[in-house]
Amino acid sequence: MKMNSLINLIRNFPEEEISIKPRPYFNHSVEFKRKITAKERAKILEKVGLNVFFFPSEFISGCDLLSDSGTTTLTNKQWASLHLGDEAYGSNKGYFLLFEKVREVFGEKFFSESSKIGKKPNAFIFHQGRAAEDALFTQIGKLGKGLIIPSNGHFDTTKANIEANNMKAVDLFSPEIKKENSKEKFKGDMDIEKFKKLLKEKKEKIPLVYLTITNNTAAGQPVSMRNIREVSELSHSYNIPLFLDACRFAENAYFIKKNEKGYGKKSIKEVVKEIFSYVDGFTISFKKDGLVNMGGGLFLKEDGLFMKKYPKISDNLMNEQILKEGHPTYGGLSGRDIMALVEGLEQVTKEEYLDYRISQVKEFGERMNQEKLPVLMPPGGHAIYLDMNKFFSDTSLKGEDFGGISFTAILLSAYGHRACELGYFAFGYYDKKTGREIFPEVNFVRFAVPRLRYESQDLESVVEATKRIYDEREKIPGVEVVYGRDLKLRHFKARFRFKKM
Ligand code: F0G
Repeated sequence: MKMNSLINLIRNFPEEEISIKPRPYFNHSVEFKRKITAKERAKILEKVGLNVFFFPSEFISGCDLLSDSGTTTLTNKQWASLHLGDEAYGSNKGYFLLFEKVREVFGEKFFSESSKIGKKPNAFIFHQGRAAEDALFTQIGKLGKGLIIPSNGHFDTTKANIEANNMKAVDLFSPEIKKENSKEKFKGDMDIEKFKKLLKEKKEKIPLVYLTITNNTAAGQPVSMRNIREVSELSHSYNIPLFLDACRFAENAYFIKKNEKGYGKKSIKEVVKEIFSYVDGFTISFKKDGLVNMGGGLFLKEDGLFMKKYPKISDNLMNEQILKEGHPTYGGLSGRDIMALVEGLEQVTKEEYLDYRISQVKEFGERMNQEKLPVLMPPGGHAIYLDMNKFFSDTSLKGEDFGGISFTAILLSAYGHRACELGYFAFGYYDKKTGREIFPEVNFVRFAVPRLRYESQDLESVVEATKRIYDEREKIPGVEVVYGRDLKLRHFKARFRFKKM
């Protein structure tokens, strides 16, 4: 008998054909949850006016899908790197490692050797994304009156920071996002036709253009390289700099690699480098694709259009940073935070990590879809969005009943899972003059999936809970707003109670 080598033998058992793949990591340490009944949860939630933001997280017995921001489970290397943190007041060890890592991941031009005399500072470390936005828009707001910042979709804090500096935030969502059953893979793109029109009509009023990758406000959908390139060419042809809101840059790069022609053979790092080659700067919250619990930054390309056009801004930014955050070599972060971030940026750009991350979210969406729950498909990289207009379409609930708030209150109290209304309440507003609610274009509840935190069993439980609520939807009353209806960023602060049915 001929001897059979093991290598020959396993040809009969192709690994690729296994449909359920093991996770690319194992649990390093776990935390047991507190036991609590649905009745107890309901009591607590009622006490805080049905606003899930105020529900104490230690009583969440299911999945906490309120946000994917700062909720990452750290890797053992990150925990180890925290111990290596250097808490020196100036030029700590981590700063130099971050300098190397930012240059390696995003490109050398985004972090100059500013310690060299005569070099302008162009990399600013903040404690989170919105602090970076505040610093940038405080400077931009001083450039003139009636300024406009167009974007494929501003995140709420970005919009709020723009408006706080008396500028207008304009969203140019892709028309694909509203199309029924659109097969478009990059629904996060900017609407190029609308952008061209705006450039023609208002070019003098536009100091800066923004692209959010992935587009959180447009259901977390990715942006194509083609769109980034086109927006860059158009902006530059009008001598206007382009910035990224780059919170989920690695997830966006993964979608480009998988779904855009010509990128399949490139590494994630190559795709990331190309994305950033088209822009003049970026703001970022490292609480997402930095894989850390705290951190943000603002980076300007040293020879980019922004630095050329507004040469004084980088000095002003440095002053602002020293005033509000800290010395430029640590900004708003402790030395140990910086060490964990350096390791996080290394991990997040690995394909095996992204493969698992994106497929977990995709499977979560597919399972919802199989159960006929109205979620936006295909999902983006960090969250599943449930369309509340479709969810309640055959019930008597109206827009101003804020069914999304009712849904999140029931999901949390009955089943212990926390999701977030990002729809008519969060993005709408109360018009005091007419006494009417003005609704945004979309009405979603978002299930954001924290990185490396939950397993399929956890998410499957969310699918089942959502299905049960869906099946009983005609029993769900709307809510009335008892506090905060007319406040800015009202979803963080408002309080509700259920209406009578
Ligand atoms: N830009 C985008 C696209 C974001 O998603 C966020 C935060 C920020 C900026 C602000 O960053 O929180 O560090 O100040 N998004 C979180 C979320 C809060 O739940 O989507 P930050």
